[in-house]
Amino acid sequence: MLKTIGCGELRAEHAGEQVTLAGWVHRRRDHGGLIFLDLRDSTGLVQVVAHPEDAGFGAAENVRSEYVIQVQGEVSRRKDGTENAELPTGDVEVRITSLRVLNEAETPPFPVNQDTDVAEATRLRYRYLDLRRERMQRNLRLRHRVVQGIRNFMSSRGFIEVETPVLGLATPEGARDYLVPSRVHPGSFYALPQSPQQWKQLLMVAGVDRYFQIARCYRDEDLRADRQPEFTQLDLEMAFVEQEDILQLTEDLYHHLSDEVGGFNVPEHFPRLTYAEAMERFGSDKPDLRYGMEITDLTNDVHGTEFQVFNRVIEDGGRIRAICVEGGADISRRGLDALTELARENGASGLVWVQFTPSDSQEGGPLDGITADDVKTPVSRFFSPEDLAGLGKSCGAKRGDLLLIAAGADAMTSRVLDVLRRQLADERGLADPDTLSFLFVTEFPMFEYDEDNERWSAVHHLFTSPFTDDLGIVESDPGAVRSHAYDLVCNGQEVASGSIRIHSRDVQMSVLRALGLSMDEAMLKFGHMLEAFTYGAPPHGGIAPGIDRTVALFARERDIREVIAFPKTKTASDLLMGAPAAVTTDQLREVHVELDPVAKEHLAKQAEGGEEEAEA
Ligand code: AMO
Repeated sequence: MLKTIGCGELRAEHAGEQVTLAGWVHRRRDHGGLIFLDLRDSTGLVQVVAHPEDAGFGAAENVRSEYVIQVQGEVSRRKDGTENAELPTGDVEVRITSLRVLNEAETPPFPVNQDTDVAEATRLRYRYLDLRRERMQRNLRLRHRVVQGIRNFMSSRGFIEVETPVLGLATPEGARDYLVPSRVHPGSFYALPQSPQQWKQLLMVAGVDRYFQIARCYRDEDLRADRQPEFTQLDLEMAFVEQEDILQLTEDLYHHLSDEVGGFNVPEHFPRLTYAEAMERFGSDKPDLRYGMEITDLTNDVHGTEFQVFNRVIEDGGRIRAICVEGGADISRRGLDALTELARENGASGLVWVQFTPSDSQEGGPLDGITADDVKTPVSRFFSPEDLAGLGKSCGAKRGDLLLIAAGADAMTSRVLDVLRRQLADERGLADPDTLSFLFVTEFPMFEYDEDNERWSAVHHLFTSPFTDDLGIVESDPGAVRSHAYDLVCNGQEVASGSIRIHSRDVQMSVLRALGLSMDEAMLKFGHMLEAFTYGAPPHGGIAPGIDRTVALFARERDIREVIAFPKTKTASDLLMGAPAAVTTDQLREVHVELDPVAKEHLAKQAEGGEEEAEA
């Protein structure tokens, strides 16, 4: 080794020892004839000092930020009053006896020694420098600990890790596939796995019983802060289990991981909500339970009042639903207009607000006896103060609170109230950043109608088992079929998703028919699964937690790119390597692929330099 100890490992007890260190120059300071260098390696930082009479002084004068150097010297305690309590090595420094430059460094495009904001594209273009920064080093190490924690936990529960192919056949998870042309089978393509779903089910048929894999998945879909085109799942599957076994295992795993990482409040028992309950109470299948503002149904309270807008909605089969914002009477007119605009953007024709304005010291008091002076609302012409107080009481409101009321079809009011809930929690700082509010959402519907393609599609995926009680209506009334699909949700985000699977050929065929597949299509795409089910497939089920999302939660990062070493941009580009990129005509010929005019035009433009590098 070019070093005898890590920079960050030095402590007072090393005083008097001769050490050799190697790392990067984090910072250089010249102080009254002395040169101080902060030297950094993967273990941390330590201060080294060169005096004018030291052999390494000349070299120390010439090093710059990010030079790679090796120093030898003696560890000494820092003088009283010069210790740095913020650094674990802050009690000591190393007096240089020699300094060797192992490699010079250009001035980096952004400071590596500070957590300054840098354009995303620049960070990704120079990712190897970005990763040198403290925050990214911390995130990479945290990711390692989480993955290690997963492996330890899974092994301790009797699971074995099995690798499954990356070159395979499309697995339907709802996104587009990344395709790989075959050279030896002209005209045929592999699909990169959207998940190892079919492989893991086949492993259950193979008698593996308890499988897991840290699996890379590939999906060509629209990217967001919580989506990357390639991402990692903890994919797991168990035979001879029921839903409860998988949920309990997942809960135990996340307890294990949060103990490992530390610093978060995690519920002792993860609450469970059915899909229907989650939609009713929070308007979302991934509610953030760190704050209240649950939805109340006011349909019966307002039916038959003077306000015809509400009456018409109810006659059309819609409902009137509201959330109560504690202390929301302080929101300005402009703030209410912004919330109304947000509701409109999400499909509402308007938003009715009611502020119970506290007079003098009555904030937080009951709504009894309020007068017209105590309430502000654009619908005061249609509702008496007592009526409004009644609505408020139904929602649990007190003086000083705000009601936001949406009217319309359930899908729209759910969407609107969910968005408002999240927005208000954000604006008012209601979500405790130290809490990871895990919950399970269960009983997802099996199918949803896809208006664009005019057919039913699977809400989770087509291998999910419908409720036994609903098997009779799979083909006649798909919309009413409940399924054994479940999600692990945390702080308003889906973290994991899974289901108990179909293990009977007949049930699988019935689901495929409900999805509109003919016998021939079913055999072509899923014949191998249907066949496997006929050779003694055990009952089985599983789940797949997203590792990027899990690490981002533990790292308190909003974007999963912060916990992925080399992520892609929002347009799925790799700015460091320059992927995707054109290939030679010979390479294309070898795999029997010809470019269409759109592709050719695009490449020509790119060659002219007409196209900017993909934005981050
Ligand atoms: P699903 O498609 O819900 O289920 O994915 C499971 C989990 O993977 C994560 N995830 C993603 N993370 C980052 N970027 C993406 N593009 C992305 N897509 C999904 C999420 C999600 O909860 N085979 C089934 C699992 C099963 O049934 O066992 C599956 O893949 O955290």
